[in-house]
Amino acid sequence: MAQHRLNVQAPIERLFARRWSTRAFADTPVEEDVISSCLEAARWAPSCYGEQPWRFVVANRFTDRDNWQAVLHTLAEANQAWAQAAPVLIVAVALPYFTHNHQPNRWAAYDLGQAVISLCLQATAEGLATHQMGGFDADALRQAVQAPAASQVMSVIALGYATAASAAPESMQAAEVQPRSRKSLHEIAFQGQWAQPWQAAAALGWEARYQESDADSLPWFHDGLDDDIAEALARLERNSGRVLDWGCGPGTQAVALAQSGFDVVASDVAATAIEGARQRAAKAGVNIETYVDDVRNSRLSGPFDVIIDRGVFHCFPEEEDQQAYRQTALRLLADDGLLILKCFHRDETSEQGPPCRYDHQDIIRLLPEFELLDSWSTRFGAACGPLAQLCILRKKDNS
Ligand SMILES: Cc1cc2nc3c(=O)[nH]c(=O)nc-3n(C[C@H](O)[C@H](O)[C@H](O)COP(=O)(O)O)c2cc1C
Ligand SMILES: C[S@@+](CC[C@H](N)C(=O)[O-])C[C@H]1O[C@@H](n2cnc3c(N)ncnc32)[C@H](O)[C@@H]1O
Repeated sequence: MAQHRLNVQAPIERLFARRWSTRAFADTPVEEDVISSCLEAARWAPSCYGEQPWRFVVANRFTDRDNWQAVLHTLAEANQAWAQAAPVLIVAVALPYFTHNHQPNRWAAYDLGQAVISLCLQATAEGLATHQMGGFDADALRQAVQAPAASQVMSVIALGYATAASAAPESMQAAEVQPRSRKSLHEIAFQGQWAQPWQAAAALGWEARYQESDADSLPWFHDGLDDDIAEALARLERNSGRVLDWGCGPGTQAVALAQSGFDVVASDVAATAIEGARQRAAKAGVNIETYVDDVRNSRLSGPFDVIIDRGVFHCFPEEEDQQAYRQTALRLLADDGLLILKCFHRDETSEQGPPCRYDHQDIIRLLPEFELLDSWSTRFGAACGPLAQLCILRKKDNS
């Protein structure tokens, strides 16, 4: 089954992240009791006036093939192409009149939607996949399930166990493994008024990233000291001193530096990352000081002989954040302090990765209070990893 990582902007329950609409269903029946649980979750959805205007008709290929087929045949051709593998098709129907006064219920479709997402999330919790469809011939579908004339046949929910993307129709397989995306929070939510986009703290996105995956599965995870950082320290002939591993993430660099004899402070804006770094240091039997801290507004005190930035500066597209980064670096570094900075290279074109990519000239321009001592183009991780730029910078005398 394809794994669809969400690029969340704030931590969410894993159940929400695990729900997605597959087009690759396994040829496996769904137990009736499990279907009952999904319907039961829908039953407990909220509704206007407590009307519960939702109705569900379950067509099960393994218990009544003709009924299931009748529903399948009302679907749009493109939907039939993949839905023909789904063991269960559930027709979701809204009753658009209030029973207490027979007036139109303009919230009926809204309420049905709430019940449907409850059903889908219960299915997700049961290890099942769902895929809703609006593409069908409504009259034919109403006929197929004998729904009342006054009802609104709103959607068909395919329900079953997801399997490998290769089980989906060929033209749909690529979509199965595409990363999923959504509009940004600032496009869909507002602070008080429409003109005030909701601003979610960037730190929440990082925190979510560390909560949702094991640190060693993150693309930047590198056990042991990064070769370029080791090379930079060797060229500088540094093997001791007070080092700050900025945006330390899983803490692999901090631990490796402590093992090499440096006195290490490690900080990151994500509390879960810092907890992981602490545990990593304890396991390795080294002492590092750890802090949850934002490089743009740091509570740390210097002076540090060296700051290591492996993949942090390139996370800041905004000029004010870059400026705050520079100011903090200047404050925390000793007079002749060094900044070893590794970032994505401007020639790296992959869609995945940080918003900013630089070469050494960009870095000189963006960090004018630093002089560039040395730099080279390199990669992150393996020989085929993303192109990277390594810069060794020293705080200028007058800074
Ligand atoms: C009301 C509704 C109608 C939809 N109709 C179709 C459809 O006819 N065919 C289809 O392949 N997907 C359909 N979808 C699925 C959406 O395309 C899908 O939910 C959306 O792309 C988000 O993907 P996700 O569910 O994996 O997050 C529908 C979803 C909803 C809620
Ligand atoms: C690409 S990861 C690199 C992690 C680590 N340096 C490594 O090499 O494994 C970027 C890290 O920067 C951290 N980060 C992002 N913005 C930050 C900020 N404003 N202050 C501190 N850390 C930040 C993230 O939480 C994340 O751990």
